[in-house]
Amino acid sequence: MTADSHQITLVGGGQFPCRGDERVLTAMERRGADHISIGCRGGGCGVCRVRVVEGKYRTGKMSAAKVSAADLRQGYALACRLYPLDNLLIEVS
Ligand code: FES
Repeated sequence: MTADSHQITLVGGGQFPCRGDERVLTAMERRGADHISIGCRGGGCGVCRVRVVEGKYRTGKMSAAKVSAADLRQGYALACRLYPLDNLLIEVS
């Protein structure tokens, strides 16, 4: 299976590629960028919280204390648990 690469664009500037099987936070770190804050990398601390403004994505397990069901519906996610299915426009929250 080939992993498609998607373009991650940040509201306010910044762009980096991310494969569909790669976490957005990991892809950002690999490029040496620091648009999003890095903490536990495990979906628990919430410092990498972002909102997806445009594009399809999936998420892994995230702390419900950091991203509630209502937050999820509004596009909030933790970048260390966020996988793009599409090019994404994201906002650091
Ligand atoms: S880095 Fe801690 S939740 Fe993503």
